[in-house]
Amino acid sequence: MISKRIKEIAKYTKDSYKIIDVGCDHGYLIIEALTNYNVKYALAVDNKSKPLDFAVNNIIKEGLIDRVKFYLSNGLDKLDDECDAIVISGLGGVLISNIINDNIRKINKQRLILQANRNNYELRKYLAENNFVFIDEEIIYEDFYYQIIVAKKNIEKIVLTESQLHYGPINIIKRSKLFLNMLKKEEEILNKIPDSNTSKKEKKEIIRSILNESKRCN
Ligand SMILES: C[S@@+](CC[C@H](N)C(=O)[O-])C[C@H]1O[C@@H](n2cnc3c(N)ncnc32)[C@H](O)[C@@H]1O
Repeated sequence: MISKRIKEIAKYTKDSYKIIDVGCDHGYLIIEALTNYNVKYALAVDNKSKPLDFAVNNIIKEGLIDRVKFYLSNGLDKLDDECDAIVISGLGGVLISNIINDNIRKINKQRLILQANRNNYELRKYLAENNFVFIDEEIIYEDFYYQIIVAKKNIEKIVLTESQLHYGPINIIKRSKLFLNMLKKEEEILNKIPDSNTSKKEKKEIIRSILNESKRCN
């Protein structure tokens, strides 16, 4: 059963020639991309053999084996020039940054499709400081709120504000219903923490200002 989260991430692979999925686990993202989003080929990478075996079995069952290469390997070590999209999802933001950074020289034209389970602030900071530009962002809800970040290498460094680092430059412009709901939920949680905690107080102020701005525009 392919989760809603994976289905939403897979949408961003549309029309890619070849994708690399780092941490492919059961291979569901690749199955979805090859079946529904016109992706021709995929590299399935996992650094543990069990998840990779699950991916091999599931991809065989779907009749897609001729279009996928499997690697028991670390991060983006197997990234090749034919790949035009990189997917890294379901890991922490710091680990995702490290995986990108380990092979940053090989990344040029590829679209990065990222979904961190935590530390989105750190991930955005890393991307901005390392000349990536944000081309899309989306919020998904499936028991939890998840953030998708789509980015690409840029010539110049971009500077993000604290609000943009926390909640995403494109999310703030798009102000989707799910995004605003995510902020309200986070505000509820922060309200239970004493204001003496400076970083929480700062976050609360950022959330308030985005929510107020969205009310003004409606
Ligand atoms: C929590 S699962 C997420 C799977 C899937 N990408 C998703 O979004 O549901 C993380 C997977 O990444 C693999 N993994 C963790 N670090 C990795 C790395 N540095 N290189 C390759 N695979 C890694 C793990 O073995 C595991 O199968």
